[in-house]
Parts: sequence; C-alpha cells; structure tokens
Amino acid sequence: MAKSHVKIKINGKEVEALVEPRTLLIHFLREQIGLTGPHIGCETTHCGACTVDLDGKSVKSCTMFAVQADGADLVTIEGMANADGSLHVLQEAFREHHGLQCGFCTPGMITRAHRLLQEIPDPSETEIRYGIAGNLCRCTGYQNIVKAIQAAAAKLNGREFKEAAE
Ligand code: FES
Ligand code: FES
Repeated sequence: MAKSHVKIKINGKEVEALVEPRTLLIHFLREQIGLTGPHIGCETTHCGACTVDLDGKSVKSCTMFAVQADGADLVTIEGMANADGSLHVLQEAFREHHGLQCGFCTPGMITRAHRLLQEIPDPSETEIRYGIAGNLCRCTGYQNIVKAIQAAAAKLNGREFKEAAE
C-alpha cells in the first residue's frame, strides 16, 4: 500500500515519517515512533488508555488515523515531565495520593487531566469526574485519582490541598 508522508510535532520535536493511510495514530506512536506510554486498552474508543493531547484537545489515538495528525502538535505522557526531568505536578500528585494501582490507565488519565486543568484551571470535584469520564480505570475506584487531580489543581493555584473529610 502506498505510504503517506506526515510531519507531526511530537513532544516538542518535529517528526517526519512515511505511514500507511490505514495506520491508527496509537499504532504509529507505539510501533513506529517507539512511544509506548499511551496504551491500547480497547481500540474501540471506550477506555481512554490511548489518550494523547492533539492541538490542545484530548484525543483517543485509537480513534483516528496517523495521517489525520499531519501538521499537528501532539503531546504524549512522555512529554509531560518538566524540562529538567522532574515529574510534572500531576505525576507527583498521582504518586503522592495513590492515584494508580496497576498503572495501565495512568498515562491516558494524566494526559487527560493535564488538558482538563487547562480547560478548567480550578475544577470542582464534579467537573473533575465529568472531565475524566472518558478514561476508565479498573483498579482504583477513581477516588484517589480525583484526589490527585484536586491536589495538583490546588498546587497550580497556589493553595494548600485539604482532603475532604470522609
Ligand atoms: Fe483507545 Fe481504549 S484504546 S479508547
Ligand atoms: Fe489499573 Fe487504572 S490503575 S486501570
């Protein structure tokens, strides 16, 4: 099959490649570019494990073709850490508040949460729950994920994080 040329900015670097038009973006990222942070959970747009940030929107990368990302600015979990290599505030918060167990959903969850905090810089608990509704976690029951996002939002807004009484 004839291949198409794509040029995509991935985690701040211009990447050029030849790709078959049928290749899904998640397969391109994982198999051709070697970015295995975004996971494949369902390949049917349900789980959100494959979430990446594309031109300022959270996108399930199993739901689009790589050629559709031509010219885009794309960020994966690999691009989330700070320039000095330290963890992003969301990554720290997930670690500190036990926002993960097996970790399978975590790259997609953090990538989505990162965009959510740009859409709504200081979200309520309900807004967080709606905001991550497209990302499924089979382990945590979501409570600590929500807590981690609340803690990260508090830190980014210069507030002390106080856990709600149970
Ligand atoms: Fe893309 Fe599940 S692998 S939504
Ligand atoms: Fe296991 Fe979310 S931590 S699926």
